[in-house]
Amino acid sequence: MDRRIYLSSPCMCGEEQKYIQEAFDTNWVAPLGKNVNEFENEIKKYLNVNGAVAMSAGTAAIHMALRAVGVDTGDTVFCQSMTFSASANPIVYQNGTPVFIDSERDTWNMDPNALKEAFKKYRPKAVIAVDLYGTPAKLKEITDICDEYEVPLIEDAAEGLGGEYRGRKLGSFGEYGILSFNGNKIITTSGGGMLVGNAEETLKKVLKWITQSREPERWYEHKELGYNYRMSNIVAGIGRGQMTALKDHVDKKTDIYERYGKAFRDLPITLQPYEKDTKPNHWLSAATIDKGGGISPFDIMDRLAEENIETRPIWKPMHMQPYYRDCEYFTYENQNNSEDIFKRGLCLPSDIAPNMTEAEQERIIEIVGELF
Ligand SMILES: Cc1ncc(COP(=O)(O)O)c(C=O)c1O
Repeated sequence: MDRRIYLSSPCMCGEEQKYIQEAFDTNWVAPLGKNVNEFENEIKKYLNVNGAVAMSAGTAAIHMALRAVGVDTGDTVFCQSMTFSASANPIVYQNGTPVFIDSERDTWNMDPNALKEAFKKYRPKAVIAVDLYGTPAKLKEITDICDEYEVPLIEDAAEGLGGEYRGRKLGSFGEYGILSFNGNKIITTSGGGMLVGNAEETLKKVLKWITQSREPERWYEHKELGYNYRMSNIVAGIGRGQMTALKDHVDKKTDIYERYGKAFRDLPITLQPYEKDTKPNHWLSAATIDKGGGISPFDIMDRLAEENIETRPIWKPMHMQPYYRDCEYFTYENQNNSEDIFKRGLCLPSDIAPNMTEAEQERIIEIVGELF
């Protein structure tokens, strides 16, 4: 296999050029313009939410969600431990204190039982739950707990756009949802993110904060701290084009997941599970090697690397990260599922055609099968 197979790379559908050209033709190359407004409108309609604010990154969207719910110096925020560091870092930007929560085994996301344990000790300012690799978290249970304690939920759906939980789109749960359009996501704008929700008045404030908190005066007047987080009109043009391909990407990623599932049925490999009544977007097909499976995830990663095929370990849980070593971590009945999944897991190549063809996936399956 000569050409490199990536884990997940951008897949442009062709429509993107049209919107970029429109931005050039009208000379709207600034961090505002028709593409930005339309991209926000399309996401609002798709997720069935009232408000959406496009930003330069998903990380910026989490930062602004935390500011919107009032996280400030010394505040505790609960965050799923098994995630990318960008879920947790904005807590520190706001001088808050992250407290990490273990995952359950049914979806690998925030364990509602561990969350309850954490609530016995702390009353946080917010809870950040993640739809890991596009698989919906136990959103009903998590929402119920947050409602009981009247604590806002932030749904980090950076990896989840296109997925569904009980008929409702990922990103539309909680007080705020966040999306990412980073280079390897299910749809990409090269880089970008969005904050979505129904609190329209607060989202208007967010829009002001991310455009340097300029007050409506003739001169540059600032009453609040500002940020330069707005999405550019060029980038939003790519997003509009990509929205037309979202369903196709989800369908193709689902086929990839199902092909792996079928092929590995008789091997000691278990794909990331999901609950009934949910529809992951299958952004990445992740798996664990069963205990006693005879090989380690690194054996698979090394063998595929020899064939110029990219894989990735599971996100190393935040409570295991040197930077967050002093933070508290809650697990239910000493299960510590996140560490176990991290140690036995890996992300398999999940690139869609034409970037990874069906024949290339079959070859990957064959190489993995030969290792057992
Ligand atoms: C779970 C999760 N949260 C947040 C982010 C941050 O998004 P961005 O890279 O757009 O800042 C990412 C992806 O990069 C992610 O995977």
